[in-house]
Amino acid sequence: MRRYSIQTKIVLPFLLLFVFVSILVPLITVELFVWKYNQQFIRETQEWLNVTEDTGYFLDTVKVKQAYSVEIMIFGSDYTLNSTTLTGLSDDEQNYEYLANLFRLKHIKQISEDQAGNTSPITQDITLGGVPYKVFYRILPQGRYYCLLRPMDEIADAKRTLTWSMLGIAVFVIALVAFISHRIGKNLTDPIKDLVGFTEQVADGNLDNACEIKTQDEIADLTVAFNQMTQDLKQSRDKLIQAERLATAGKMSASFAHEIRNPLSSMRMLSQMLIKKPDVTPEQQQSLEYILEEIERIDNIVKGLMDFARPSTLNLQEQPLVPVLKSVLALMDANLEHHQINLVSDFSLELTDFQFDADKIKQAFMNVVLNGMEAMPEGGTLTVSTFKQENTVCLKVMDTGIGISEKDIEHLFEPFFTRKDKGTGLGLANVKRILEEHDGNIEIDSTLGEGTTVTMWLPC
Ligand SMILES: Nc1ncnc2c1ncn2[C@@H]1O[C@H](COP(=O)(O)OP(=O)(O)O)[C@@H](O)[C@H]1O
Ligand SMILES: [Mg+2]
Repeated sequence: MRRYSIQTKIVLPFLLLFVFVSILVPLITVELFVWKYNQQFIRETQEWLNVTEDTGYFLDTVKVKQAYSVEIMIFGSDYTLNSTTLTGLSDDEQNYEYLANLFRLKHIKQISEDQAGNTSPITQDITLGGVPYKVFYRILPQGRYYCLLRPMDEIADAKRTLTWSMLGIAVFVIALVAFISHRIGKNLTDPIKDLVGFTEQVADGNLDNACEIKTQDEIADLTVAFNQMTQDLKQSRDKLIQAERLATAGKMSASFAHEIRNPLSSMRMLSQMLIKKPDVTPEQQQSLEYILEEIERIDNIVKGLMDFARPSTLNLQEQPLVPVLKSVLALMDANLEHHQINLVSDFSLELTDFQFDADKIKQAFMNVVLNGMEAMPEGGTLTVSTFKQENTVCLKVMDTGIGISEKDIEHLFEPFFTRKDKGTGLGLANVKRILEEHDGNIEIDSTLGEGTTVTMWLPC
């Protein structure tokens, strides 16, 4: 089946109808006008004939010609041309048989016999010498034919001019209507085309864009709904990818961690034994300290991995949150001071006790505070605040550190994503997992060069 665009389906039927009407209407009008005019014309000429007949000028053909600008031709009963005011006919046209045929004299005789006593005029249209005439017949005594030829060329001209000008106007109006309906159709279908293009993009897996809304109508509603759907799809796809990554990373981590931790403990023990030996030179001692530091780092990574991989069961207990946070901050106190970081805390007094796993929340909070600290190598202010928001407890950690680039923001919760030389990239992935286990959430806002705000919600 042929495929027509919506634009064609909307525009074409109306356009065809319009073309039909706008051509037919002028033609009918012209025909009606000509028909009406003809009637008037016949009536008028008939009167002339009567007048000339009554006044006796009838057979004075030259005078009749002068008075009414008509031609008179009189034929004998044998169809020969007796007299004529019409000059300039070609030889062929003067041939009497030809003329008798053209004027259909035999036929006229028949008609006039048939309608004896009837006064309705006998007329006929002919062309003679290239000019159209309407012929009015009278049968004279002795069976002669009196033919009055009224020239019709002006009427034919007028009809032609009228027809062409009306058709011209019709064509112009059709073109105008076609243009306007094309524009209307385009306005209607362009947003649909955009939407179709956009759905193709989405089908190709590109979920990052939104379709631009250019109108304020049902198509706009459709576009909004589609954008929302795309966004939801993207979110669930991202979540799925993240979950898959976490699962893979978790499995790998579990096996690595086991394999690494045992040799690592032996290495640490041996290094600690060596460092205590009296015959160790200061250089060797320095090297052993480096080794121990590096072992410590590896151990940290392994711990992170094990946290990540550990099948977690929450140890939920109804308790206040603030003391848990304070215990973490107390641990970090010396470190913060050392880095010249000013700690501002603003704990809401209205927080009630609620259920959470203190160890895990401690771990998450510590990770976030550590990140804040590491983001402020030159010092700064770390603000920790808690407040209640509807059915959640909100925990906010704000730093005045280096900030995070827009490009990095979306990768922060991916395991092993780090911008630090000695980072593991497991901190935030763990924080997110802990919060999700609590049915909570985490959001990070940051401005490069100005600082970062980490907001965590826990249901209470
Ligand atoms: N408060 C912060 N300020 C600036 N960047 C941060 C902050 N928190 C996290 N980041 C960025 O996110 C990355 C991932 O953090 P994280 O998962 O804790 O891993 P790690 O700290 O081991 O790098 C960091 O490397 C850092 O680039
Ligand atoms: Mg970290």
